[in-house]
Amino acid sequence: MDGNGRWAKKRSLPRSAGHVAGAKTFKNIARYCNKIGLKYLTVYAFSTENWKRPEDEVKNIMNLLRDYLKDAENFKDENIRVNFIGDRTPLDDDIKALMEKNEKASANATGLTLNIAINYGGRDEITTAVKNIIKSGLKPEDITEQVISDNLYTKGMPDPDFIIRPSGEYRLSNYLIWQSAYAEYWFSDILWPDFTEKHLEKAIDDYNHRNRRFGGV
Ligand code: IPE
Ligand code: MG
Repeated sequence: MDGNGRWAKKRSLPRSAGHVAGAKTFKNIARYCNKIGLKYLTVYAFSTENWKRPEDEVKNIMNLLRDYLKDAENFKDENIRVNFIGDRTPLDDDIKALMEKNEKASANATGLTLNIAINYGGRDEITTAVKNIIKSGLKPEDITEQVISDNLYTKGMPDPDFIIRPSGEYRLSNYLIWQSAYAEYWFSDILWPDFTEKHLEKAIDDYNHRNRRFGGV
């Protein structure tokens, strides 16, 4: 969900206003994905690298997350299952508690599974997986791609078919680097706060015209 800061700058607003607008877009798009019957949506909300930002901005993003999580009722009527991926260790205790509360409250929802990536980094995820696999005592000959997948935050979930990156950047930025081996990408100049259902429809339509061969012919 990229481009919040530039969206705000264009309007001579503080970066925090961009994050507020981006949070609204996030809720809107998540609801829309559920409505159209999508099964999994994973959003990149805060990366393991985002701690490098000024303290004020990090606080601001964490407070937006807090507000969102306090509104646990959000998901109940909507049948959205909320799940967090990433390393929670450095997060504030109240945020960790709210994350668990949201996951528990929505655990039986059968609609969209909404993965929210917080303090998520693909390399960090793989490093953690390696540590856990070694701790589990598996032998080298027991290590398969499935074993690695099963030790990622996304265990039990399908790999992403489609990854959308807005804001005109053409990079992965450490996002789902293992899982996206065969994902289709869609890049666009739209800044995240401006991203609408229409843009998503266009992206999905493009996706539907792609020819996925997975290395075959
Ligand atoms: C994405 O928008 C939000 C987060 C990474 C939390 P940015 O804040 O990265 O916006 P730009 O890239 O500065 O425009
Ligand atoms: Mg950015």
